[in-house]
Amino acid sequence: MDHPRTRIVALVAALSFALAPLAFAASPTPVEAEHGMVVTAQHLATDVGVDVLKNGGNAVDAAVAVGYALAVVYPTAGNLGGGGFMTIRLKDGRMTFLDFRERAPLAATKTMYLDAKGDIVPRASLDGYLAVGVPGSVKGFEMAREKYGTKSRQDLLAPAIRYAKEGFTLEQGDVASISGSAKRLAKDEAAAKIFLKAEGRPFAVGEKLVQPDLGGVLSSIADKGPDAFYKGMPADAIVKASQAKGGILAKEDFEQYAVRELKPIECNYRGYDIISSPPPSSGGVIICEILTVLEGYPLSFLGYGSAETVHLMVEAMRYAYVDRNAALGDPEFVDNPVSTMLDKGYAKAIRAKIDPYKAGASADLKPLGAKESVETTHYSIIDDEGNAVAVTYTLNGNFGAGVVAPGTGILLNNEMDDFTSKPGVPNLYGLVQGEANAIAPKKTPLSSMSPTIVTKDGKPFMIIGSPGGSRIITITLEAILNVIDFGMDISQAVNAPRIHHQWQPDKIYFEPYTLSPDTIRALIAMGHTLDDGSGPPQWGQAAGILVGGKSLADIEKGGSARYYGAMDSRATEGSAGGY
Ligand code: DON
Repeated sequence: MDHPRTRIVALVAALSFALAPLAFAASPTPVEAEHGMVVTAQHLATDVGVDVLKNGGNAVDAAVAVGYALAVVYPTAGNLGGGGFMTIRLKDGRMTFLDFRERAPLAATKTMYLDAKGDIVPRASLDGYLAVGVPGSVKGFEMAREKYGTKSRQDLLAPAIRYAKEGFTLEQGDVASISGSAKRLAKDEAAAKIFLKAEGRPFAVGEKLVQPDLGGVLSSIADKGPDAFYKGMPADAIVKASQAKGGILAKEDFEQYAVRELKPIECNYRGYDIISSPPPSSGGVIICEILTVLEGYPLSFLGYGSAETVHLMVEAMRYAYVDRNAALGDPEFVDNPVSTMLDKGYAKAIRAKIDPYKAGASADLKPLGAKESVETTHYSIIDDEGNAVAVTYTLNGNFGAGVVAPGTGILLNNEMDDFTSKPGVPNLYGLVQGEANAIAPKKTPLSSMSPTIVTKDGKPFMIIGSPGGSRIITITLEAILNVIDFGMDISQAVNAPRIHHQWQPDKIYFEPYTLSPDTIRALIAMGHTLDDGSGPPQWGQAAGILVGGKSLADIEKGGSARYYGAMDSRATEGSAGGY
């Protein structure tokens, strides 16, 4: 504390701490409820979930009904033709994780997106049938319902079937989402027939989107279960279209698809227990690695958005993302160094390498265990008994691969792009990855999806997650820090502007207005490069629930309700709803 600069920094930090509550951006008031809370990116799906809870279903039932509903009313990400993760914490403290993410087809090869010269074929892993991984959502939802739900399949599918067959009225955000991908969707006849009007005209606000083919598939799943999808017409139609249009999907891919039930990742941060996604997601491991590093710093004292805080967060992110990108992959194919990455001693060693006043250089970082050498959606649910569910699922990019097999109404994912197409070459999210995430038959690509439940003293405290590609991890992390370290309420926590660093490219991305001009100058003086990259990928829309109060201070005062929900305002048509 003798260094004069340190004294100034401490003074500024103390001042900003004292002023911090005044500095928060105005955010909508969190939604309050006593018995249950559902937060999703589409208000009709939120209502579906709340109705299930009101009718005696538990949080898993609601999660399944919401998952099917989003496949209809949020087609950019909600899906039957993609995959995802569900983190569950039951009222008795049991925890589990369902991995229903896509797998590479049996005919996939490590170099399938490279040309004869070994160069990446542009967009081959993003557009059309070659980009499609074997979908997992239908089997995932059914396993969740069978093992942890209480309601019948017919009950949980009924709202989705109704919205598909009878249609739903499009609001501004729905129209914007479809229009944004209109050009891509126009290239696939079956997709265009659903999502565009005559002559490729986009839908207008107030018009209805009706999806009869999807409704038919949903009805057959309600009647016959997942076999209706994996062994029935949809699988046949998808394989046929894939074979006709340059894909490699085969009937066996669908027959052999199986959901994995895994143990969630757990760590403790300042007395809070974090429960999140294990590999094949990097999400839980990397959130925990960053938190374990940050636990050694007085973040609440340094203050939200201060140059000191941003610098320390960025350095922790830099070290964690190099590990992510080099060392992690599908656990059936790769020996993931998870225990090292969560080790307090490892975090201490990282802190020892972080200079508090100088930016590190990503190029100098040695990947851990390196041997070699936009659109997703998240929803959070809690029921009257305290069962908590966090789900993130996706088609990967907006509207996935942009293709629908005729007769199915099902948009297919482009999850294959999450693999390393070529070591060292960035993917859609700019991630520069290595051999651990190379393509192999039946392998699952490494994900960043981080459906997370936080508990305190054995009770649910927070449910949180987000879309956002590689930024999912830092968005989820920052929402947690905003509540625990910076005292924000749940709405402020999901709405607050954000920063992101992912090792490579070596720069701090930040949303407009996150950093004041003098904070930016201070960071540049430390040696950081900054980018307010307004271009894609967009920052994801977090969905959060807090239990017992709208913020830590409110919880201490006893809170006026039991559950507080907030949907990020970045999701135009999202909502939090409860009863
Ligand atoms: O699993 C992953 O990490 C990505 N496929 C998620 C994609 C995503 O979040 C796109 N949405 N903005």
